[in-house]
Amino acid sequence: MSSSRAQNAADDSARSNDSADARSVQTAFRYLTTGELDGMAATDVLRQSLTIRSVISTASTYAKRAQRSQDQSLLTEIKEIGEGLQGAIFEQLGSSQAMKKEKLGNEKLPFNLNHEYRIHAAVEAAFDRFNLLVDCQVYIPQLVHFKEKQENQPYWDNCLQQFPAGHRRPGDMITMEKILPMPKVVREAIIKEFYPVANNQPPDSTTIQKVLGLPSNKNSLIRTYFGKEDIKLSPDSFTLRNFPLCWKPMERVGLDVDTLVAEVGKAYALMHWGAGVNGDDVEFVLGSYIIPSEAGAASTPDSQHRAIGLFLLDFGQCSFIDLAEDFHVVYQVFRGAMVTGDNQNFIPNLRKTPALFAIFKNAYINAGQKILSEKHLETRFDIDEFMQLYEEYAEDFLLY
Ligand SMILES: Nc1ncnc2c1ncn2[C@@H]1O[C@H](COP(=O)(O)OP(=O)(O)O)[C@@H](O)[C@H]1O
Ligand SMILES: [Mg+2]
Repeated sequence: MSSSRAQNAADDSARSNDSADARSVQTAFRYLTTGELDGMAATDVLRQSLTIRSVISTASTYAKRAQRSQDQSLLTEIKEIGEGLQGAIFEQLGSSQAMKKEKLGNEKLPFNLNHEYRIHAAVEAAFDRFNLLVDCQVYIPQLVHFKEKQENQPYWDNCLQQFPAGHRRPGDMITMEKILPMPKVVREAIIKEFYPVANNQPPDSTTIQKVLGLPSNKNSLIRTYFGKEDIKLSPDSFTLRNFPLCWKPMERVGLDVDTLVAEVGKAYALMHWGAGVNGDDVEFVLGSYIIPSEAGAASTPDSQHRAIGLFLLDFGQCSFIDLAEDFHVVYQVFRGAMVTGDNQNFIPNLRKTPALFAIFKNAYINAGQKILSEKHLETRFDIDEFMQLYEEYAEDFLLY
């Protein structure tokens, strides 16, 4: 990737604001204040908050610290906020961006960060192009730039010292929009509702404050496992980072699972037919993003309006398929990826939750047909037939 891809920081932050504006135009939001939520039972907080229509007005410490750091124009410490197979994810205080930095040696593999950047860019472009057509409210973290390990030595000299020890050697790096974590009131409700304690009792307030105060629990995203019934959590494994929320507890809390699942169906169709990407091992998470204040919404200089959004991320294991290939080949590549990796945790199980699977399927078919007609490919591919083949494959392939 050439260094001409690099943009300057002013352009970058303007871009993040543009994407937040575009999202807020599409969505009819429902505003909740932390004051209102504080008085509710944990189940109610989760039911009210975890929808893609909610905006939580919060006096977040993130907002205050970000404001201070921008005022002083200081380069501040860079912290790790996530880890995976290919590398680690970092944030810089006061910045709306996240950096995915590749593990040493991973750049030599076919599924390296440069490959991921190209897939991510293609998926983002497909979502931009077809989003209004299919009305999909899943968001892709907006790419900012890709920096090569070899290029731009002054850039590395400047920024590497801010990284935590152990991450200070140059490595290929993607900079993208940071998915903001769940606001504190939601993090607290997750602990109250799901922290495992004996005899099904809710955790006591000391435990709640201790778990809430762990630094790693600040970066809380929620993985939406519509294909998994439940996961037994233990105090040792309990973490708010990528908290696994399965369909049974979602239904118990009363979340609008149908709407979320339909969005996931549209997102797979956008990846497949819009971007020609197989979607292998992608992740769906509920996170948040800042939207501009609206007239009438309670606002103070330190408050923020944090909209809850469903995000699609991690394209590290994805592959491109040329839609000019024979349709059998394309169908095989797409359905193959749908049953591998973590995908079966995100796609509703067609045996155990047939009604939920039907919602996924209908949304996928509708979106796929629209995209194919727009691309004049509707005579080459038959989405109904593809879904039929996926169902047969999933039935055969999966151990129920
Ligand atoms: N743009 C982002 N904003 C906030 N958190 C992120 C972002 N990208 C990734 N993460 C967090 O970091 C984790 C690891 O990132 P991921 O891209 O999945 O890496 P890997 O390919 O190595 O699995 C994710 O599961 C998520 O929790
Ligand atoms: Mg990952």
